Amino acid sequence: MERTFIAVKPEGVQRGLCGEVMTRFEKRGFQLVACKLVHASKTLLESHYAEHKGKGFFDGLVAHMSSSPVLAMVWEGASVISTARTMMGATDPKKSAPGTIRGDYGIDMGRNIIHGSDGTESATREINLWFTKEEQITWKPALSSWLY
Ligand code: TYD
Ligand code: MG
Repeated sequence: MERTFIAVKPEGVQRGLCGEVMTRFEKRGFQLVACKLVHASKTLLESHYAEHKGKGFFDGLVAHMSSSPVLAMVWEGASVISTARTMMGATDPKKSAPGTIRGDYGIDMGRNIIHGSDGTESATREINLWFTKEEQITWKPALSSWLY
């Protein structure tokens, strides 16, 4: 089983899309193992987006992401890291297929609704950046034999 870090960005929270995003992950069969609303600091976001430091969009991205709360989550399941990226759609919503989260709810690159880890290393790093070990809950779902 894999775990990945997913966040509904400020525009998603403000537009009332938290439930929609969570519903898609639940219905797909993934399991929620951590969740909290966070008004994130610039320091946290600079660390979260460290790979983009120095790029033209970095300061605006950090300012935007710290401007209003985000819904931070960890989801668990087989191949959840890559499947979540597929469910999200392309970084630029204009290039995201209908049926993806960004393709259904986004227009602008800087307001693309959702963040998801892009690999196993970033997933581990991001999960531990946003959540303490105590906040990452291991639990056994009753219906897992109907999924796997
Ligand atoms: P990136 O990690 O490349 O995309 P993704 O979220 O799909 O992993 O970029 C992080 C965020 O930065 C992206 O979701 C939106 C923003 N961004 C811009 O505003 N302009 C850009 O040109 C890029 C590449 C990203
Ligand atoms: Mg990324």
